[in-house]
Amino acid sequence: MADGTAPLRVALAGHVDHGKSTLVGRLVHDTGSLPEGKLEAIRASSAKRGMPFEWAFLLDAFQAERDQGITIDTTQVWLKTAKRSYTLVDAPGHKEFLRNMVTGAAAADGALLVVDAKEGVREQSRRHAYLLSLLGLTQILVAVNKMDLVGYAQSRFAEVAREIESYLESLGVAPKAVIPVSGREGDNVADRSKAMPWYHGPTMVEAIDGFRPSPSPVDQPLRFPIQDVYKFDERRILAGRIESGRLKVGDTLAFAPGGRKAKVASIEAWPEDAKPNEAEAGRSIGITLDDQIFVERGQIGHLEESAPVETNSLRARIVWLGRQPLVRGKRYKLKLATAEHAVEVQTIERVIDTADLASRAADAVAAGEIAEVVLRARSTLAVDDARTMARTGRFVLVDGYDVAGGGTVTLDGHARARRDVIRSTNVKREEGRIALAERWQANGHKSGILWLTGLSGAGKSTLAIELEQHLFRKGWHVTVLDGDNIRHGLSADLGFSPDDRTENIRRIGEVAALFARAGIIVITAFISPYRADRDRVRKIAPDLFHEVHVSADLATCEKRDPKGLYAKARAGKIQEFTGISAPYEAPESPELVVDTGTHSLEACLGQLSDYVERYLGAKSGGA
Ligand code: ADX
Repeated sequence: MADGTAPLRVALAGHVDHGKSTLVGRLVHDTGSLPEGKLEAIRASSAKRGMPFEWAFLLDAFQAERDQGITIDTTQVWLKTAKRSYTLVDAPGHKEFLRNMVTGAAAADGALLVVDAKEGVREQSRRHAYLLSLLGLTQILVAVNKMDLVGYAQSRFAEVAREIESYLESLGVAPKAVIPVSGREGDNVADRSKAMPWYHGPTMVEAIDGFRPSPSPVDQPLRFPIQDVYKFDERRILAGRIESGRLKVGDTLAFAPGGRKAKVASIEAWPEDAKPNEAEAGRSIGITLDDQIFVERGQIGHLEESAPVETNSLRARIVWLGRQPLVRGKRYKLKLATAEHAVEVQTIERVIDTADLASRAADAVAAGEIAEVVLRARSTLAVDDARTMARTGRFVLVDGYDVAGGGTVTLDGHARARRDVIRSTNVKREEGRIALAERWQANGHKSGILWLTGLSGAGKSTLAIELEQHLFRKGWHVTVLDGDNIRHGLSADLGFSPDDRTENIRRIGEVAALFARAGIIVITAFISPYRADRDRVRKIAPDLFHEVHVSADLATCEKRDPKGLYAKARAGKIQEFTGISAPYEAPESPELVVDTGTHSLEACLGQLSDYVERYLGAKSGGA
């Protein structure tokens, strides 16, 4: 290797007849990457068979050397320039392309798209370009090949270049370079063409050397999908491959979905006497934990501060290749890292025509089509956005026993895609003259936010209203903000998507903080299912925020079903219903837990009023 680092991977793409093999044969030869004697051997054998020599034969010769182990469907060619070494990965058809995309075997740093100067951009060129962008590949180099067949005409090159550039642009991809070349004659491959003096851009070799290596997965957040759990004597060993990041002995790992936590006690390796202290992306390892928590195959180990998203519904871009079309309502098996989930296609948002990127509504996705869909699972999936975390953001769909499609997760519109943008600028705070302590003094009690969180039907509203009345009768300044009420006004424009819930909670958090700073005790009753959203409210007013988990298990809430919503959700009449088809993330360390499942309303109310008395009452100090 030229500089001692791993070779850069470059994916080859383009229509079958556009001269990809010839161009690659030429590239390998002109850079001197061929093993000694290979060219001569091929020339001799073509002559013997009475065939004219073709550069493409060089590529065929490489086919025999392909890596049988992982990438059965791809040809790999090694290339060396003065700058570094490369692996060129050719995936001949869509299926192979897709399989590579999903297994990650061909995860490439960049791509070379070959377009025939005479034929111009064809359907397959577009589809490959689309798949490349779906893969998240943005370093794309376009070779406009067979320039010799169009008399090296600048005008023809300009036409083809414009066509492919505008297509790529509509995919949000700017090609690194568009180069007029001739694979057969070697123009602008390694050497500058004499036949095209009008071209001043880089040669292919120069352009490939301009590719940057993708950021190493080692620097990304830890993702350690569990492949198997082995029980050895007392110990349980969790085995798997670290897909990204690194872990070391002593790290606290959480396992998604579920979030159970324990510390890494040891990293097991072979031979046993060489136990490493840490391991990083690419390594297959076994670990033991300091606590015997229940972890199973399919869960993903991660560090607490950078968790994957846990969700029951998933927006994804998919490529479908199944014999039967993908249809709404049908169940498929989704495989992501080591996890398998039964999923149902909830909506087919649009089917995309790769030819012109036009999209249309559809009830089914036929083989060869690309679509944006929403998938729904009964179980909770742990996923990442494919654009940032490829290995835990890609999946395959299995129909019966066949891999019938693959896709990438887009978390657009998900809670993680927060509305963090701050648009109000040139504003400053005005300070009032009345200190909060003075208000407390005047009111005879402190103020604060009692943030009740819990499933629908857990009893948040009931408790809030009872507590409000109880405190009001004592002469306290108190008010309630309640989910259903707020959703008639302040949040009337919001639904129940993760993103909308985030915004709902943000607004309520701001309003609650205003009340609390005005000296009032504000009791809020919102499901507020996302931990991160509640933590953000805490940050708005850290000293005033009290998180109360109104806990009652799902079965209890569902049995109560005061508004008949669980029944509707089970019948599929309400989408994204918390607890059924959308997640609820219980608080990790709330200030107070009241369990309405096992305690009476009176008892829970007692707990709440004791808490308020202790922390906000006149005798609590300060007020
Ligand atoms: S939150 O998730 O954004 O905090 P919020 O507490 O405001 O939710 O609203 C929950 C109330 O909306 C529930 O009590 C229920 O009456 C109603 N609701 C309607 N659709 C849904 C849904 N898909 N998930 C949860 N609650 C829903």
